[in-house]
Amino acid sequence: MQTSFRVLAIETSCDETAAAVLSFDAGRLTVLSNVVSSQADLHAAWGGVVPTLAAREHVRNLVPVTGRALAEAGVTRDDIDLIAVTAGPGLVPALVTGVMAAKSLAYAWKKPLLGIHHIEGHIYANLLTSNQMGMDAPVFEFPVLALVVSGGHTELVLMRDHFRYEIVGETQDDAVGEAFDKVAKMLGLPYPGGPPVSERADRGQAEAAMFGLAFPRPLLDDDTLDFSFSGLKTAVLYRLKKDANKVKDDAYVTGVCHAFQAAVLDVLVGKTRLAVERFRPRTFVIAGGVSANTALRARLQEMLAEEFSETRFMTPPFVYSLDNAAMIGAAAAYRWSLASPEERTEGKDRWRTLAVEANLKMAL
Ligand code: KG4
Ligand code: ZN
Repeated sequence: MQTSFRVLAIETSCDETAAAVLSFDAGRLTVLSNVVSSQADLHAAWGGVVPTLAAREHVRNLVPVTGRALAEAGVTRDDIDLIAVTAGPGLVPALVTGVMAAKSLAYAWKKPLLGIHHIEGHIYANLLTSNQMGMDAPVFEFPVLALVVSGGHTELVLMRDHFRYEIVGETQDDAVGEAFDKVAKMLGLPYPGGPPVSERADRGQAEAAMFGLAFPRPLLDDDTLDFSFSGLKTAVLYRLKKDANKVKDDAYVTGVCHAFQAAVLDVLVGKTRLAVERFRPRTFVIAGGVSANTALRARLQEMLAEEFSETRFMTPPFVYSLDNAAMIGAAAAYRWSLASPEERTEGKDRWRTLAVEANLKMAL
């Protein structure tokens, strides 16, 4: 087991070009640099991410972003022991740019390479907490239950050990982040929709009551761990059609945001409660961009503290909630530290073979 090494990680699965350098020292992860160049403004004009535009921007940004990550970490290529990159899931033209860059570096610098699952990265972002001297490094105590909530995924994942994933519940249609983005679009709020909708939701209780706004909580009362958000999105759409004369009223828009988020949070908290009851995890983590939602964090933390005090609650620090490369480096560092000699040898040859997979599955 190699206990001390440095990782250069690259992430380009969607609209963020990101690179980071991390050190792994006897189980302690330290982020030496974390550079993210967001294209959100570019895609906002289109109301969503345009894959070919994203790829073009990644090609433009990858070299400067990676160079900055190395410079800010104060390292050169000689100090890097491992290269990691998001291999999927995501937008193929976007993923390809990062994977090609990582393969080229691995070949030219003669370094081992690991392809990482994007969601695995979001889960391992939870180990990037409290890197202060004198504090214990955060660890997963198994079983771990992860609520994965991003723009493309909504699922409950049970881990009985590192890298052992069992999807115990998932959305039948839209992802939560996608629902936030679509509701924002209907309301004329900017892309990505999570931040503006949640900001209004957090202060919109009185407005929701004033306009009598309330939306359904899909699948909340059935006893599966599955989710559905397309019906909720449609309920918002119908209500906006019915209230066509009010949609220009700022207070009305704020009220819709509150009522929508309240429905989403009730479902996410309800399904998490059911999963914790069923699996009694020792650690619970939130993963993915929607984990940046402060009301969601607070509701889940409160529910666990009140009802399941034996389950420890973890969230990624805000800077690692949205897409970034430090989380990819964190997952890669754990994989490398636990890799067998054969896996190490394979890693050295991976620059030849690593392929992008749009629908990459998390390995069991
Ligand atoms: O993980 P992420 O950065 O990218 C994907 O892997 O999809 O997640 C992005 C999603 C977007 O749908 C965005 O609207 C949502 O996360 N999001 C939020 C918040 N911040 C970002 N959703 C709800 N509340 C937030 N504060
Ligand atoms: Zn993500």
